[in-house]
Amino acid sequence: MKKTIRDIDVDGKRVIVRCDFNVPQDENGLITDDTRIQAALPTIHYLLEQGASILLLSHLGRPKDGPDPVFTLAPVAKRLAALLEREVAFLASPSVVDDGVKKSAEALLPGQIVLLENVRFRKEETKNDSGFSKDLASLADIYVNDAFGSAHRAHASTAGIAEFLPSVSGFLMEKEIRFLGNAVENPDRPFLAILGGAKVSDKIPVIDHLLDKVDSLIIGGGMAFTFLKAKGYEIGGSLLESEMVELAGQLMQKAIDKGVTLILPVDVMAATAFDKDAPAQIYSADHIPQDRMGLDIGPETIKSFIEEISNAKTIVWNGPMGVFEMPRFAQGTLSVATALAQSKATTIIGGGDSAAAVQQFGLAEQMTHISTGGGASLEYLEGKTLPGVAVLQDVETKTGG
Ligand code: 3PG
Repeated sequence: MKKTIRDIDVDGKRVIVRCDFNVPQDENGLITDDTRIQAALPTIHYLLEQGASILLLSHLGRPKDGPDPVFTLAPVAKRLAALLEREVAFLASPSVVDDGVKKSAEALLPGQIVLLENVRFRKEETKNDSGFSKDLASLADIYVNDAFGSAHRAHASTAGIAEFLPSVSGFLMEKEIRFLGNAVENPDRPFLAILGGAKVSDKIPVIDHLLDKVDSLIIGGGMAFTFLKAKGYEIGGSLLESEMVELAGQLMQKAIDKGVTLILPVDVMAATAFDKDAPAQIYSADHIPQDRMGLDIGPETIKSFIEEISNAKTIVWNGPMGVFEMPRFAQGTLSVATALAQSKATTIIGGGDSAAAVQQFGLAEQMTHISTGGGASLEYLEGKTLPGVAVLQDVETKTGG
């Protein structure tokens, strides 16, 4: 178990907190979803109450060649100040840390908050360069990692910095690990995982790992077609990763060997083109015509998925059931999301597209936990150790005597 900010004394200390403020913005730079900023508030409030001063770090997007105004964190500072109802000074140095930033850090008083510029403006960030880590660490007395969404990255601000400061997790990090960890390691059974999304290749390790843990596994979305192909079905022009067919077959065999109920679509909504207005109709999953591609699950499939959901006590969902961005092909994803919202089970939504779908349908409040991490939650569900978690201090466990 990792230490959290509750386990250390932060009174009068300068605390540098890595957050994941990688939020979506529209073409005018307006933040379109501030969930990740809101998710950082409990840690910030607690540190303020305990008498700390706070330096916040984050990345935003993937700037290619150093500083780029498109990826500035300035709008995040504004939104954060509005949410906290207090000043958040934005230290706009394109080199993230410089003499001016160091002076501002030294002058910080308890209760004051600053946000530094996008750490990815420095190429050293993604290289986990120890010089840059040390520079960041020099600004503070304590490091807190609250960026669960970036914890799968071994970068200077998520991992390297911990070498130079006492390092603990924030409340968001703690909560994410508690929900995802408990769901996988200590679930109320029956334990059901629902996996979807376009690419099987992205999900192979998570399917493989979850087959050791779950009682049943639903596979929907574009990746289901590779499994249907492995069963010898005629999938028409649907998405297929031919080099994955053999592996899909092996995973189906593993499910049989482990006694896991594997549920695949039995019918699909297939269209003539990947287009929101393309003519579409329902076909049996084993007879999709050559000139049709499956873009959503069909009504019989929805029924069988809902039935499985109603029997489960713990449900982890990652990846949509169809092309939910197009209303015509959103029914499968909407039905699964609604069934989860109505279920009494513990419902955990992996970040990324399924989290976006749940938000879009207005069902977020009815889920037990929606992860703020897309890639990070997937890697966690694969059973991987996340570098941004591994570097944090462990709670000392008393040995007998
Ligand atoms: C995410 O949005 O998944 C995280 O912020 C990580 O971003 P990255 O994939 O650019 O590292």
